[in-house]
Amino acid sequence: MKVFVLGGSGFVGGHLIRRLSAAGHDITVGTRYAQDARHLRIVPRTTISQCDPHDLESLTQALEGHDVAINLVGILNERGFGGKGFRRVHVDLVERLVIACEAAKVGRLLQMSSLNAGQGESHYLKSRGAAESLIRTAVDSGQLQATIFQPSTIFGPDDSFVNRFAGLLKISPVLPLARPNARFSPVYVGDVAEAFVRDLEDPDSNGKTYTLCGAEVWSLKELVEWVRDQLGLRRLIIGLPDFLGRLQGLVFDLVPGKPFSSDNFKSLKIDSVSTDNGLLDLGIQPWGLSQLAPTWLESGHRQARYQKYRRLARRGDREEP
Ligand SMILES: NC(=O)c1ccc[n+]([C@@H]2O[C@H](COP(=O)([O-])OP(=O)(O)OC[C@H]3O[C@@H](n4cnc5c(N)ncnc54)[C@H](OP(=O)(O)O)[C@@H]3O)[C@@H](O)[C@H]2O)c1
Repeated sequence: MKVFVLGGSGFVGGHLIRRLSAAGHDITVGTRYAQDARHLRIVPRTTISQCDPHDLESLTQALEGHDVAINLVGILNERGFGGKGFRRVHVDLVERLVIACEAAKVGRLLQMSSLNAGQGESHYLKSRGAAESLIRTAVDSGQLQATIFQPSTIFGPDDSFVNRFAGLLKISPVLPLARPNARFSPVYVGDVAEAFVRDLEDPDSNGKTYTLCGAEVWSLKELVEWVRDQLGLRRLIIGLPDFLGRLQGLVFDLVPGKPFSSDNFKSLKIDSVSTDNGLLDLGIQPWGLSQLAPTWLESGHRQARYQKYRRLARRGDREEP
């Protein structure tokens, strides 16, 4: 199949494009900045196409000649406040994508959404839900065939979830944690990529929604403590009561790049877990975080220790390992 992957230059895109290529598909990575996707040029049967997903004409042109579109575009935080940024990237873009698919005669869309889409108070989840509604309306009217994927947090060697906590733990003796009891079912990025590929090969997938969860459920605090122990660090992890967690979100709202935000705090109010797991429906046995992550956490830990000893050796210092 000729598959167009929008937002494919990121974390999930890298894994999905390699898996699609291995399955024999021809892939076009649609990206705003071709140079950000250059690491994918070496993947067989993969082409990089620079396009503007916020412009109907550019998007339609880029989609022409493809059988399927996959939308991986998403943001965890908007630049401003009030939800406008989330609506632009999650809702307006999907509305345009549906029109562009029809114009370019691309009959099928695989949409990456999120577990709990449409629930709660966060603009992130609300905008995800609004995008899903748009797609379901297009499916019901026969305008498009579509499948929706709702993952919990996705982990992998190059993720920005486990690695972010690992990075923070390395530099800070104390880690204050908002919503420490929030629960997740982290799903392995390889399982997510496999779900998309299996769905592509399923002729009856139109209109389906798959939740994607890992084999384990963790509270946020358990998870961060586990990462700390894997890294062999001695750090204090403090679960914040909600009034302090909310305050932490408000403070980080003002930090450039928003490493955490009041909208993230609101998303964390709903557990990212599910009683049914679409991976099983797709015949995929999910991995758990504790089964896979030690390999890359341990190698990162070893590399960091090695670099530290090299630095010390250069300075002529000595330290017992
Ligand atoms: N990672 C997770 O834990 C997780 C969990 C649940 C759902 N998801 C969803 O899964 C999808 C892929 O996640 P990921 O971790 O791979 O994310 P990612 O690495 O941040 O990649 C997302 C892609 O979205 C595009 N993008 C970002 N801002 C944009 C904007 N303002 N306008 C247009 N495009 C924009 C970028 O594409 P270009 O720069 O190439 O244009 C980027 O490559 C996202 O929709 C995400 O919300 C992820």
